[in-house]
Amino acid sequence: MNTSDVPPQAEPLPFHLRGNYAPVTNEVTAFDLPVQGAIPRELRGRYVRNGPNPKTGQSPHWFLGDGMLHGVAVADGRARWYRNRWVRTRAFVEDAQWLGEGGTRDLTVGKANTHIVAHAGRLLALVETSFPTEVTNDLDTVGCVDFDGGLTTGMTAHPKICPRTGELHFFAYSFMPPFLTYHRADAGGRLVQSEVIDVPGPTMIHDFAITERHVVFMDLPLVFDLELAMAGNLPYRWSDDYGARVGIMTRHGAAADVRWFDVAPCYVFHVLNAYDDEQGVVVLDVVRYPKMWPLGSSGTSPGRLHRWRIDPGRGQVSEQPLDDRAIEFPRCDERRVSLAHRYGYAVYTEQGADDATGTSLIKYDLRAGTSAAHEFGPGRIPAEPVFVPASAAAGEDEGWVMAYVYDAARGSSDFVILDAVEFTGKPVATISLPQRVPFGFHGSWIPDAA
Ligand SMILES: [Fe+2]
Repeated sequence: MNTSDVPPQAEPLPFHLRGNYAPVTNEVTAFDLPVQGAIPRELRGRYVRNGPNPKTGQSPHWFLGDGMLHGVAVADGRARWYRNRWVRTRAFVEDAQWLGEGGTRDLTVGKANTHIVAHAGRLLALVETSFPTEVTNDLDTVGCVDFDGGLTTGMTAHPKICPRTGELHFFAYSFMPPFLTYHRADAGGRLVQSEVIDVPGPTMIHDFAITERHVVFMDLPLVFDLELAMAGNLPYRWSDDYGARVGIMTRHGAAADVRWFDVAPCYVFHVLNAYDDEQGVVVLDVVRYPKMWPLGSSGTSPGRLHRWRIDPGRGQVSEQPLDDRAIEFPRCDERRVSLAHRYGYAVYTEQGADDATGTSLIKYDLRAGTSAAHEFGPGRIPAEPVFVPASAAAGEDEGWVMAYVYDAARGSSDFVILDAVEFTGKPVATISLPQRVPFGFHGSWIPDAA
């Protein structure tokens, strides 16, 4: 055979385009889904999860696909519908570019692929580079939200809603000054505070935290890299020189109040929760990676649950590992955000690599120092767990934990509801979905209006 007849060897697909990371191609609507078990009748609302799903089938990085929402609505013990919808951003509809001529940023352009959060009567699909995108209860796109013109930065995909005040706290980071800006909207959704926070340089800041008295920022050594940006990839890489620090600002305080404390270099995508303890120490539970993206937006080591105790009186931070296992997607009862939490939930990611495929969810009892794992069985891979209380007055773990679970043998997905107290027991309900739900990022339970 002539060597010119040999077909070129195809490059192996990157992990985020293979298996259950691969995008789906259709928007599906299905009603009255089959249920095994019994959906609790107290559950009336929708679980909606966001994730990247490139419309072209291609994207240079997992984080860069067009946002797609997958929702399941339940009421009266029935699974009323499943639907998946792309978020109709300007990037999706017009192929608009977020970086304009001369490096200017267009904040109305973004992939809206990371999270979905309800606040002040609006459902916001979020990506950290850009303005939020409002969607309807049926997951149709309304458009960009800029807080009546008040917002002049993007918005993190991990805003925090204070359960006491109803305020929405958030921030934005940028590779151009200002590198970090904090914002607060009141319970009615009006932007009431914006503060430029001084940091040494442009870093990627994915999450933050609030406590009853503080706002907590993490400035960690994933630094902006122009060469990566020019190559069209995610423009952040590890720096051995930048250092690492956490900052605390008094709630309703000003940028000048922020106090920074050095920590050992590491990276954190996600915070489980934070609170002020009785001694005035800020307790911050995070999934900590010893190093992230040494070669530029790829390569990592396992992330593990750690507790930082930031003591403003002594000017010190202590760091304590809480578990040996690799985990991600930590969540707590949203009613405990900013307050002391006892329980947390996470995905066990086994080896902690980019295409990690653990088959269990973990429930932590952080007061007792114990944990329990719900094992879904071979080839059944759960996504982010979201806790929903049984009632407004229910105890911290009295309720359910819900997640999409991919079934590799069937090539399809289920929506699974666990009893959070009987966490290792049989699922309360398993709802079969009409198509595969690709691995994605974050979601919320959105109760029906009373
Ligand atoms: Fe995230």
